[in-house]
Amino acid sequence: MAKKKSVLDFYKMKKEGKQVAWVTAYDYPTASFAEQAGMDMILVGDSLGMVILGHKGTIPVTMEDCISHCQAVRRGAPQTWVVGDMPFGSYQLSDEQAVENAVRFLKESDVDCIKLEGGVRVESRIRAISNAGILVMGHIGLTPQSSGVLGGFKAQGRDIGSARDVIKDALAVEKAGAFSLLVEAVPPILTKFITRKLKIPVYSIGAGEADGQLIISSDMLGKFQAFTPKFVKVYANVAEVETTAFKKYVEEVREGVFPTDEHVYQALDSDDDFEKLFREFE
Ligand code: KIV
Repeated sequence: MAKKKSVLDFYKMKKEGKQVAWVTAYDYPTASFAEQAGMDMILVGDSLGMVILGHKGTIPVTMEDCISHCQAVRRGAPQTWVVGDMPFGSYQLSDEQAVENAVRFLKESDVDCIKLEGGVRVESRIRAISNAGILVMGHIGLTPQSSGVLGGFKAQGRDIGSARDVIKDALAVEKAGAFSLLVEAVPPILTKFITRKLKIPVYSIGAGEADGQLIISSDMLGKFQAFTPKFVKVYANVAEVETTAFKKYVEEVREGVFPTDEHVYQALDSDDDFEKLFREFE
């Protein structure tokens, strides 16, 4: 089994131009498959609100939801770097609230770092959590928790004015002490510049080349059907596999084809003994 990576490995990978491959996972089996596949990192994203819990967005997700899913992922992937996502409302109020919830994340679910959304506007939060000795990953560009403010799940930094803001956010995240940065849904030309400009590793989701790539597992596996962002490559159709299996099962139960003798535990005593037992109750 491969040795668990540390923050130093991620710095080294940036320096050596080695790509970091990571996915989201929210449960024990997916985490275990990701670890078996050699994934460098796993994000337990608050996207779980949509892809696991069926909410319309990430806003309803709570610390308890995130911690519980992080615990399952840690059990499934004990040797993989796990990123815990700070849900909406867990760091908006104050630096103190942010530190308290980041500490809770580490204590209760053994994540390796936390991620929070925003650049300039959360600089003091990143600094406070980093000063508490906790590794922070920034997240800028399209930040789903602010999709209301952004006018929807829209790509960012596509014109010069907006690109300038994204660059300012990236610089603010690094200056505040984050150990890495995730950039979502901005043009590749901008991601390339930010990746070159920052000393910390810069990862991309739907933003072209960077120091590594993240994808939502439910999207790439074809499990989340409400919508698929343009930047997703679909590697499997698990929804079809599951639905086909469920349909077959329904059919076989209704037709009496399942279960057969091979799917039951046969009695250890004779039929006659069982008949005698039944008579006692008649
Ligand atoms: O919650 C999540 O999965 C995320 C990704 C969209 C980056 O934050």
